[in-house]
Amino acid sequence: MAVMAAAFQVAGVGSGIVTGTAIGRESGIGGTSCSRSLGDSLMLTAGVYRPCRSAKAAVMKQCDCHPVLLNGFDGLRSSGPSSLPRFGNESSSSFASIAGAQINSRRCRSAAATALPRPGEARASTYKVSVLGAAGGIGQPLSLLLKMSPLISDLRLHDIANVKGVTADLSHCNTPAQVSGFMGPEELAEAVRDADLVVIPAGVPRKPGMTRDDLFNVNAGIVQSLVEAVAKHAPKALINVICNPVNSTVPIAAEVLKKQGVYDPARLFGVTTLDVVRSNTFVAEAKGLRLIDVDVPVVGGHAGGTILPLLSKTKPRVEFTAEEIESLTKRIQEAGTEVVQAKAGTGSATLSMAYAAARFAESCLRGLDGDTDVYECSYVQCDVTELPFFATRVKLGRKGVEAVVPIEGISEYEQRALEAMKPELKASIEKGAAFVNKEPVTASAS
Ligand SMILES: NC(=O)c1ccc[n+]([C@@H]2O[C@H](COP(=O)([O-])OP(=O)(O)OC[C@H]3O[C@@H](n4cnc5c(N)ncnc54)[C@H](O)[C@@H]3O)[C@@H](O)[C@H]2O)c1
Repeated sequence: MAVMAAAFQVAGVGSGIVTGTAIGRESGIGGTSCSRSLGDSLMLTAGVYRPCRSAKAAVMKQCDCHPVLLNGFDGLRSSGPSSLPRFGNESSSSFASIAGAQINSRRCRSAAATALPRPGEARASTYKVSVLGAAGGIGQPLSLLLKMSPLISDLRLHDIANVKGVTADLSHCNTPAQVSGFMGPEELAEAVRDADLVVIPAGVPRKPGMTRDDLFNVNAGIVQSLVEAVAKHAPKALINVICNPVNSTVPIAAEVLKKQGVYDPARLFGVTTLDVVRSNTFVAEAKGLRLIDVDVPVVGGHAGGTILPLLSKTKPRVEFTAEEIESLTKRIQEAGTEVVQAKAGTGSATLSMAYAAARFAESCLRGLDGDTDVYECSYVQCDVTELPFFATRVKLGRKGVEAVVPIEGISEYEQRALEAMKPELKASIEKGAAFVNKEPVTASAS
């Protein structure tokens, strides 16, 4: 255990290129219409382009093809000493810095190598990815980002409404992935058949005053029916569950897969990447750090007090006062509600979620593709606590989760918060399992 105690430090994910500074209203892109979907998507993709565009000319050359666009996602690789140069201490604060250029250059080469097989080489880069709920607030920008991925050749969009239009629209983008659309339960089997990765943003989002758990009754049934189809038609697929409440929908998916006899815990993920993305952003802002440098692991679950940013494990190492720890932790836990209230009844986080989901999907595909250096936090079946599901950092590989990083050496504050969240998380897990097994929900799980 002592050896593993430093694992969070060793396996940090802080090497990435954060693209969150999307061009806003001031810049003119998105301009007056930035709350509409075109403006939204422009802002999001502008963020994706940014690292490549801001690197030096040599790097621009490396980036001068669309298959490398997702190269800008942060967190795709760990920052192990052998994988990338250290870049936490240089003085420049711009992506155009030499160090930044080197990193971008390496990433661009790496992604270009991934995208373009050498002669005679039967390279993968041809994964089939299904997005269920693709016409929704998250589904549309997520599908756009996935359409830009060099690792996807076959992108299938499924929804119960409006998906043919989204498909026609997206199919006009001249990136390599072929896009096809599938409508309703009748076309669900074809939508997921033999997929390598199924991403599930289908489901209703929160409105002001609602908790994620309030979504349970509607979303539990949606996840159950969609995962049943995945179990039958793509039993080997990695599944990324975005639909809330993730603390319960992932156990629901697990029970469905068990019933179908195809459950592999290594292939089922609750997507908690948005908590990491938010933590990195807020910590960088609070501490005046470069976004590119910051990595905060987030463990536990994905609802209120079950979201636990491990600020003591922040990379680069940074000191926080007790007040800062309290306020940052609260803000990260309530960040979803911040967006729900700002959207005033029109939904919850969609663009930041699409960004986070695309990053996580890309990480899963890189793992499948044989990249040996991919770490992400995710809500998975594991034994880091006595609870059957818990979000922690995992190593992604050819079969999904390859290793689970234990949670050790955390601060007293974090240890207390971790213990305090357990009853709520346990109840959510039991509620999910009981839904599928038609058991009465116990008082503690209500
Ligand atoms: N994991 C996270 O961090 C996170 C963050 C934000 C939102 N969410 C969750 O993601 C989900 C989607 O949010 P949104 O804002 O995109 O909602 P949305 O209402 O805009 O989109 C949901 C889409 O799902 C579709 N859908 C509903 N039932 C379906 C079914 N049976 N099969 C296929 N498609 C179906 C709808 O037609 C719609 O297009 C919500 O549950 C929300 O709470 C999760």
